[in-house]
Amino acid sequence: MQIQGVLQRQLELRHQQRRHRSLSVPTAVHDFSGNDYLGLSQHPQVRDAFQQGVQQWGTGSGSSPLVAGYQTPHAYLRRQLSEWLERDNVLLFSSGFGANQCTMRALAPLYGRVLLDRLSHASLLDGVREQRHWKRFAHNDAVHAKKLLNPDATNLIVTESLFSMDGDSAPLHELAALDADLWVDDAHGLGIVGVDGRSAASQLSQTQGPLITATFGKALGVMGAALVGTDSVIDYLVNYGREFIYSTAFPAAQAVAVSAAIKIVQSAEGARLRQQLDTNVALFSELTERVNIPLGTSQHAIQTLVVGSDANVMNIGVALNSQGFKCGTIRPPTVPEGTARLRITLTAQHKEADIRAFVAALADCYQRLTETEVV
Ligand SMILES: Cc1ncc(COP(=O)(O)O)c(C=O)c1O
Repeated sequence: MQIQGVLQRQLELRHQQRRHRSLSVPTAVHDFSGNDYLGLSQHPQVRDAFQQGVQQWGTGSGSSPLVAGYQTPHAYLRRQLSEWLERDNVLLFSSGFGANQCTMRALAPLYGRVLLDRLSHASLLDGVREQRHWKRFAHNDAVHAKKLLNPDATNLIVTESLFSMDGDSAPLHELAALDADLWVDDAHGLGIVGVDGRSAASQLSQTQGPLITATFGKALGVMGAALVGTDSVIDYLVNYGREFIYSTAFPAAQAVAVSAAIKIVQSAEGARLRQQLDTNVALFSELTERVNIPLGTSQHAIQTLVVGSDANVMNIGVALNSQGFKCGTIRPPTVPEGTARLRITLTAQHKEADIRAFVAALADCYQRLTETEVV
C-alpha cells in the first residue's frame, strides 16, 4: 500500500502512548463491561421474535428505506416507539452512531448556534465538527450553556441523558428551560431510567425535549436506533438525511426483535428487571464503599473508577481478567487526559455472589496496582 509508512507511524504512536487498541473475544466468565443492562439480548421472547422474523421476512431488507427496505415490521416499530415515547414521529437507523451523525449533519446547519455538553458522544461531535457555529458547555452545567446561547439566533442544545463514560445524569429540566431546542441522546437511559423505562421522554414533553436519540443495542438488547421527534424534523431527515437515504435498512427481523424487547420493557417483567438492576447497583455501591473504592457519583448501571494513568487502568483490567472478570478499560481520547478509568456496568442478570466476588477482586487489584502511583 502506498500509505504503509504513514499507517505504521500512526500505529507506532498509539503503541508509544500505550493507547493501541486491538480486538479480542472476551474470555472472562463474569462480564461487567457490556450495555445489555436488562439482559434482553438473551431473553427467550426476544430471541424467538428474531427467529420468527427471519423465517417470515428473511435475513436482509434488500435496500434502503426509500427504495424497498422499509417493511411492515419497521412501520410497526415506528408507531410503537412514537406511542411509547409520546412523540409525533420516529425514524429508524442501523446504529445510534449513524442516527446521531445523520441528524447532526442535517440539522446543525439550520441553527445559528449548536451547544454540546463537553462529554458528548463521538457520534454527536463527528456530526458537528464541520460546522463553524458550535461550542461545548461545561459538563452538566446549564448556567454555562445559558451563557453560550446566541440571543440573536436559533439555538440547539445537545446532551446525553445518562452519560456513557461517567454514568451521571444531565440536568434535563434546567437545559429544557433555556431558550433553545433540546436534543437528548438517550442511548444509556432508555429502558432503565424511571419507573417506566421511558427515561428522557418521561421527564420532558415533546415541547420541552423535541429530539431524542433512542438506541436498541443497549438496554433493549438488539441493535439499531431511532431519532424520535416532531413530524417536521422526521420529514426533513427523510428528505435530507444522507445516512438515512443512502444506507440499507436494517432487517425486518431485527425490527420484530426490537418490538418484542420494548414490550418486555413496558411490562411488569420490565419493571421487575429494573428493580433488580437498582438492587444490584445499590449492593455494588455499598460493597465498594466498604472497601474504600472511590467510585464516581453515578446511581445507575454505569459506574466509574477513575484511575488516572493509562498504564494503571490497563494493568488493573488485565489482572481482573485473569481472575475471570471483565470490565471496560477506558483511556483518552475516549475520556479526557489523565482520567483513564474502569467503566463497570451492572445488569439485572448479575447474581449477588458475582457482585461480591467482583468487588473483592476489584479491591485487591485496585489497591495492589495503584499503590505505587498517586491517583
Ligand atoms: C451516548 C451514545 N450515543 C450513541 C452511541 C452509538 O450507538 P450505537 O452503538 O447504536 O451505534 C453510543 C454507543 O456506545 C453511546 O454511548
